[in-house]
Amino acid sequence: MPKPKKLYIKTYGCQMNVYDSERMAEAMGGAGYEQTDTPDDADMILLNTCHIREKAAEKIYSELGRFQGLKLENPDLKIGVAGCVAQAEGPEIMRRQPLVDLVVGPQSYHRLPQMEARVREGEKVLDTDFPIENKFDTLRHRPKAKRGPTAFLTVQEGCDKFCAFCVVPYTRGGEASRPVTRIVEEARDLVERGVREITLLGQNVNAYHGTGPDGADWSLARLIRALDAIDGLKRIRFTTSHPNDMSEDLIEAHGSCTKLMPYLHLPVQSGSDHILKRMNRSHTAESYLRLIGRIRAVRPDILLSGDFIVGFPEESDADFEATLDLIREVNYGTAYSFKYSTRPGTPAAERPQVDEAVKTERLHRLQALITTQQRAAQEAMVGRNVNVLFEKPGRLPGQMVGKSEYLHAVHVADCDAAIGDIAQVEILRSDTNSLAGRIVRG
Ligand code: 5AD
Ligand code: SF4
Repeated sequence: MPKPKKLYIKTYGCQMNVYDSERMAEAMGGAGYEQTDTPDDADMILLNTCHIREKAAEKIYSELGRFQGLKLENPDLKIGVAGCVAQAEGPEIMRRQPLVDLVVGPQSYHRLPQMEARVREGEKVLDTDFPIENKFDTLRHRPKAKRGPTAFLTVQEGCDKFCAFCVVPYTRGGEASRPVTRIVEEARDLVERGVREITLLGQNVNAYHGTGPDGADWSLARLIRALDAIDGLKRIRFTTSHPNDMSEDLIEAHGSCTKLMPYLHLPVQSGSDHILKRMNRSHTAESYLRLIGRIRAVRPDILLSGDFIVGFPEESDADFEATLDLIREVNYGTAYSFKYSTRPGTPAAERPQVDEAVKTERLHRLQALITTQQRAAQEAMVGRNVNVLFEKPGRLPGQMVGKSEYLHAVHVADCDAAIGDIAQVEILRSDTNSLAGRIVRG
């Protein structure tokens, strides 16, 4: 057997990229590569990139610059850029950074082994097509490598919503859903390999409408119910959702499907109707709050998370205050917040921009409010019993770390639970970013 070549993959951005990086590693495994944790001894480096904000894209160019020395030491080293920056600015990457041998967009990963062969011949390869064939059909798993207890599973890609700030509809294309049978097969395979919790991924996952085994269009809720029937699978989550696609059956699933965890990431972006309209979000603050009310009616303990953009073009002080009011009203368990970042080619890029200092000040205020709510949500867990899926040993000897159903990190000292076990844990204390607890003996 020839010695395996080494592949280093660095992943930026969302969980979809984490999933894609695993698939790339598997595809390249078939071409004789094994993964390494460091770029230093790699024969091939792949950066799986994110284009969502300007900073994310710029990071890639500085990272690439750092590989100059490695390429001098090892002239056979090949460097590839994958993901959304590759899709959005492929030719520009090739021009700006001659070190790059390969640029591959998210819809072409199944062709990586062929591209690698061409790159080895000294060719420069750029593949950012949106092919008709489904990349998932050809991205098959390698035989039964053992997995950790949690996994991502992409069920849907792309977005048709065209929020005025967002590059996703351009980089990932329109909405496309995988067929139900494929997803169920992949989920069963993951469970056989040790997975207990699956997070269904999609840029707009609740818009899922894949073809079912009966030939009908299945909703995300129906897919979740099919996955719920898999023995050995204990937990289901999904992310990221759009408020307008929270259909009645999906809300209902949060009440009736015991494997569906009480955590929902439901971005609203702003609490001002004027800004929501300018963002092309096609919902109002009021309709979002009503939706939250309906979800809480079926699952009162659900922990909510969101995304917020501050300093969107034309955002006034009053608009920003409306966002803070909405956050106070919802009371989030956690949230992600960003300063608006101009993305060339998106409608909002052409509009009058908010001053950078104003954006910074608003971001700090919003984050302070979210931090308060996050702490309160954690504190509210103290004294309660939660179920923890243990994922790995902690930093201290004998300690184990896992996640509660609410996605809080929980650590337990002197813990005899094994990785993959789910145990009832009494929460004793809330630390900055995690909870401490002890196993409840039945
Ligand atoms: N600027 C700032 N934040 C953005 N997001 C998407 N596009 C931008 C942008 N141009 C944020 C949104 C989205 C999350 C994934 O990233 O809040 O929900
Ligand atoms: Fe981007 Fe999400 Fe809006 Fe789609 S729904 S355009 S992915 S922010």
